[in-house]
Amino acid sequence: MQRAEPQEFRTVLSSMCTEPHPAAREAAERFLATNPGDPATYRSVAELEAQTVAALGDLVGLADPRGYVASGGTEANIQAVRAARNRGDAAAPNVVAPESVHFSFHKAAELLGVELRLAPVDDEHRADPAAMRNLADEDTVLVAGVAGTTEYGRVDPIPEIAALGAEVDALVHVDAAWGGFVLPFTDHEWNFEHAAIDTMTVDPHKLGRAAIPAGGFLARERATLDALAVETPYLESPEQATLTGTRSGAGVASAAAVLDELWPGGYREQYERLQELAGWLAAALDARGFEVVSPELPLVAARLPESLFEALRERGWRISRTAAGELRIVCMPHVTRESLAGFLADLDDLRGASEQT
Ligand SMILES: Cc1ncc(COP(=O)(O)O)c(C=O)c1O
Repeated sequence: MQRAEPQEFRTVLSSMCTEPHPAAREAAERFLATNPGDPATYRSVAELEAQTVAALGDLVGLADPRGYVASGGTEANIQAVRAARNRGDAAAPNVVAPESVHFSFHKAAELLGVELRLAPVDDEHRADPAAMRNLADEDTVLVAGVAGTTEYGRVDPIPEIAALGAEVDALVHVDAAWGGFVLPFTDHEWNFEHAAIDTMTVDPHKLGRAAIPAGGFLARERATLDALAVETPYLESPEQATLTGTRSGAGVASAAAVLDELWPGGYREQYERLQELAGWLAAALDARGFEVVSPELPLVAARLPESLFEALRERGWRISRTAAGELRIVCMPHVTRESLAGFLADLDDLRGASEQT
């Protein structure tokens, strides 16, 4: 049988995953057979997990963070909903969020028996706190905002969302799964220092350049983690707050290694390059007459005719669309000026061909 190989990243323009940093790859391989789900037995990876949580705390303005390296943003978001449900005492708990939240919230709501109330966003694709306020009531256990939305890379008004949480006595969650590794270098107010946030999702395996699986779940208070913990009688460790049981030490070790290597200077350079790239691409699409959503973070959305989109896909470009139908290009660390120039050359070629027919 022919040996299978992974995809090459040159044509991948829609993914929020990327090529791991060499230090992350090396650490992942070394720690492949470790299980941070049982930290008393697998002690060295448990130590790396503690280092990772501390480094993530630094990244998000939290001096004494509680949390762990999750399987990804989905698990971290589920855990945020679960912690809020378990800490609250609502008979029929609900979560209020903007309609731009990641689909993992739908999974969380279904799994946990919590009602998900989604508020419309404003014209700039950001959460509208007044619309969220209209949906909140005494059974609201969590209000959530997104710092770097999946579709448009938008940053919700986190301080206003946190104020709403305080007003209705609900926990406050920020999903910075994708944005967390670029936002420290911007002026946005999105982290634990900027607002009374209780929990956050921030994923090393996206812009952090760790190997998959390395998501991040962080909490301000120990009580939040306690609300998730179950006893684990037959392990060396007495309890477990994670959703998964046995889990990958590869992701944990890779996150520790790459954070050590890149935080903060390397990530700043990465942000500057990617943001510049997104601006360049947005300008290039605009100059060709397409309607472009301006890139607040390194993600560009633009309205392309359906036939052109499909033809680009057929040429091998891995691209996706927003729910509203725009082309969506995520400027991840593997994306370069050369690859985007190749994409634009194909786009021009296909347009030229369609004009001739
Ligand atoms: C904002 C946001 N949250 C959560 C997730 C889910 O992360 P994962 O796919 O690692 O579970 C994503 C994935 O793209 C995301 O963009």
